[in-house]
Amino acid sequence: MTEDAELPRDWAAYYDKTGARPPCETLLFALDRFGSESMAGPVSEGRFAVDLGCGSGRDTIELLRRGWRVLAIDAEPAAIDKLTTRNDLPVARDLTGQVAPFEAAEWPRCDLVNSSFALPLMAPRDFDAVWRRIAGSLNPGGRIACQLYGPRDSWAGRAGMTFHDRAAVDALFEGLEIEMLREEEDDSTTPRGKPKHWHVFHIVARNSAN
Ligand SMILES: C[S@@+](CC[C@H](N)C(=O)[O-])C[C@H]1O[C@@H](n2cnc3c(N)ncnc32)[C@H](O)[C@@H]1O
Repeated sequence: MTEDAELPRDWAAYYDKTGARPPCETLLFALDRFGSESMAGPVSEGRFAVDLGCGSGRDTIELLRRGWRVLAIDAEPAAIDKLTTRNDLPVARDLTGQVAPFEAAEWPRCDLVNSSFALPLMAPRDFDAVWRRIAGSLNPGGRIACQLYGPRDSWAGRAGMTFHDRAAVDALFEGLEIEMLREEEDDSTTPRGKPKHWHVFHIVARNSAN
């Protein structure tokens, strides 16, 4: 596992460590799919993404670089501060930050909901309602790119987190067309050097409804 999802108490330090990391493979996969659909005109023309749990913005920045409009949402004020003061933000950008927990956040219909290593950090009692709002906010042809954690993850059972086995993942994505699903299990360390078993689903799915 080379990714960097962790549950730090000190998010500011976490953001310092992770902000400069490259964008997630799930985001890049989704952007490639949008790109291959866009034969005429710039890929990003009119495209609007919501980055749920944006952190310090390693994915948001990639979207902005490619000309997307982005609403970046995070419960931590430090995340939005860090993102909006990055010195590598494109000059011409359309970025809005919102400090809110997913459960209370508001976002309009969009072409992409990106949520890297963030949705599992929600309590099971909140997860389903937020998921319904995510799925309901996707424009026709829109996509979700995200990570979910499986039951063999070291953190399984932690209070305030949600885990999905493969059957639960399939049920969650019913009605959406799964374009990428990579299940990863790996023993490595967290960014803070703590040993951890990772069980992660990397997923991109498309709203194929008209
Ligand atoms: C592991 S970090 C990932 C950050 C970023 N997506 C990345 O990949 O670098 C998870 C982020 O989700 C945010 N987060 C966690 N639970 C949240 C919730 N319920 N509502 C809003 N944001 C949340 C945290 O504040 C944190 O910035």
